[in-house]
Amino acid sequence: MITVKTVTSMKKKGERIVCLTAYDFISARILDEVGIDIILVGDSAANVFAGEKTTLPITMDEMLYHTRVVARAVQNALVIADMPFLSYQVSTETAVYNAGRFLQVGACGVKLEGGAPVLETVKRLVDLGIPVMGHLGLTPQSVHKFGGYKIQGVGEDARKQMIEDARSLQAAGCFSIVLEKIPRDLAEKITKEINIPTIGIGAGPHCDGQVLVLHDMLGLFEDFTPKFVKKYAILGEHIRHAVEQYRDDVKKGQFPGPEHSFD
Ligand code: KIV
Repeated sequence: MITVKTVTSMKKKGERIVCLTAYDFISARILDEVGIDIILVGDSAANVFAGEKTTLPITMDEMLYHTRVVARAVQNALVIADMPFLSYQVSTETAVYNAGRFLQVGACGVKLEGGAPVLETVKRLVDLGIPVMGHLGLTPQSVHKFGGYKIQGVGEDARKQMIEDARSLQAAGCFSIVLEKIPRDLAEKITKEINIPTIGIGAGPHCDGQVLVLHDMLGLFEDFTPKFVKKYAILGEHIRHAVEQYRDDVKKGQFPGPEHSFD
């Protein structure tokens, strides 16, 4: 079974960490069987599962439901739950309570977004025994502050700030940090500067691990494809084709056949 200790030791051994998102039982079971190291129950569920424009509307109750069904499927991977908007920003007490609820439904840790503003919260969670994954760069819950889903960490001040934030998150006790949509050389520098693993998404090849949104890499989410996504399948097309065939079979009276009926 993969634990946060396994993940931190993978960096020391130079072993790359493989992470994907999942929000449902069937997908989580497949990811686990294949040997994905970390399954992130991402708040990207708001976009690719629920069809929202941003991650902001997803609630604690919805994320708890996704986390519960994912954790139920997993035997080996490390399950990390993404703390949704407003579940950790209001007060440290609320963050502790909400993070604890994720552990109660089967997560082994939580992820939260940001640097300096969340350091006290990270420290408190870790002190209380709740593993925390940090998240820097394009943190989607701050989309309105950024004015869109733009690359982050561009320019000397932004670079310095992100390196400083990564160091501070490590000092606060994070066991790893997601780096999203930042220049590859900045991700490389951060990866070399800190002892905990970096997990990149749109952050180039030098991170200690990589994460993608499952629906993006399977070609299930068809609205747009970020540059950093590699599509490993076109499941949207396969599903459309299968459903069309079923529709036509039923319309033509070709389904169910004798083999699908009872005497
Ligand atoms: O919500 C999510 O899926 C994420 C990943 C993109 C890291 O935060």
